[in-house]
Amino acid sequence: MSSLADLPIRDDLRGLTPYGAPELKVKVALNVNENTHPIPEDVARSIIEAVALELRTVNRYPDREFVRLRDSLAGYLNAALIEESAASGLPVTALTRDNIWAANGSNEILQQIMQAFGGPGRSVLGFPPTYSMHSIIAAGTGTEWIAGERDDDFEISPATAVEWIERTDPDLVFFCAPNNPTGTPLPLETIAAAYDATDKIVVVDEAYAEFGPAGEPTALSLLEGRERLIVSRTMSKAFAFAGARLGYLAADPAVSDALRLVRLPYHLSALTQAAATAALAHAPEMLAMVDDIKSQRDRMVARLTELGYSPYPTTSNFVLFGGVPDAHRMFEQLLEREVIIRDLGIPGHLRVSAGTAAETTAFLDAVEAITVATPR
Ligand SMILES: Cc1ncc(COP(=O)(O)O)c(C=O)c1O
Repeated sequence: MSSLADLPIRDDLRGLTPYGAPELKVKVALNVNENTHPIPEDVARSIIEAVALELRTVNRYPDREFVRLRDSLAGYLNAALIEESAASGLPVTALTRDNIWAANGSNEILQQIMQAFGGPGRSVLGFPPTYSMHSIIAAGTGTEWIAGERDDDFEISPATAVEWIERTDPDLVFFCAPNNPTGTPLPLETIAAAYDATDKIVVVDEAYAEFGPAGEPTALSLLEGRERLIVSRTMSKAFAFAGARLGYLAADPAVSDALRLVRLPYHLSALTQAAATAALAHAPEMLAMVDDIKSQRDRMVARLTELGYSPYPTTSNFVLFGGVPDAHRMFEQLLEREVIIRDLGIPGHLRVSAGTAAETTAFLDAVEAITVATPR
């Protein structure tokens, strides 16, 4: 058996580490920002019916343009845009299927974006600590990763974003709003200023958008008149659909034309299209869990603070907290108590995803027990 080092792999991939959240079977898994609430039974039944129907014709390739799904996604985003507009008073233009593209998870969306707009000889600017797949996808597509720096408390001001763009002249700018793993929201002014500072592509990864304050404008509200801005979303988080793999974007229709050049034909299976379309028909029911998740997240922030830790402000379904004397040790101690969270290698910090009420209690009880037992 040969090792990876013996294979004639691309030089620029030698020595890299793959995405590696541990996949351990424990009672309370709060480590990969999933929605830990199962989807409601009646929605599950309706999805099963849609998938069963589709199975009858799986001898044929699926709709390569996933038109029904794009219509459903546009409808879903338009409902969110109307809420945003009611809260902000700003006018919005409705999205149509031409503004929407989808793929197997937003990871694939981000990969297609880098394939089309990045690649060898091109660069992408990101702001670590951020979602680890951004730099991994850059490496996989041969795009140079430029690590910008954040301001205090992991924030990015308009001036900081513009300074990094002017200094490095990247082909793509990647933001994550709210940011994973810190939970930090991103001001719309930063996105707008970054857009004005470049004539290249600006991507806002909004995987956790639905967990933000209700009605607060997201990057969707900036799309009008900005044809190089791409807003990436996913059904993996708020929609509790991580296992189905459905990510999507909203942008100017020309962006989808660019992605058609790099996508594989029939990349979205008929079963995925049917399942996602059926789930979207139940959007309000699926999103009913979001309020509970937000309240569990807020519970975590309050209790961690009481226990002497320093959680960061978060508008996502997870919490990054500092003040941990030995992050790796605490990760292990939680694991011994059948609770897995995420040690991201940020000294003194750990990240935990909001769970159901019972999971959140189990996590907080375990932290309390560890804190009491470990003199600081
Ligand atoms: C910021 C961010 N973007 C994208 C993703 C990928 O989501 P998916 O590929 O499941 O849509 C994740 C997953 O954790 C994430 O945290």
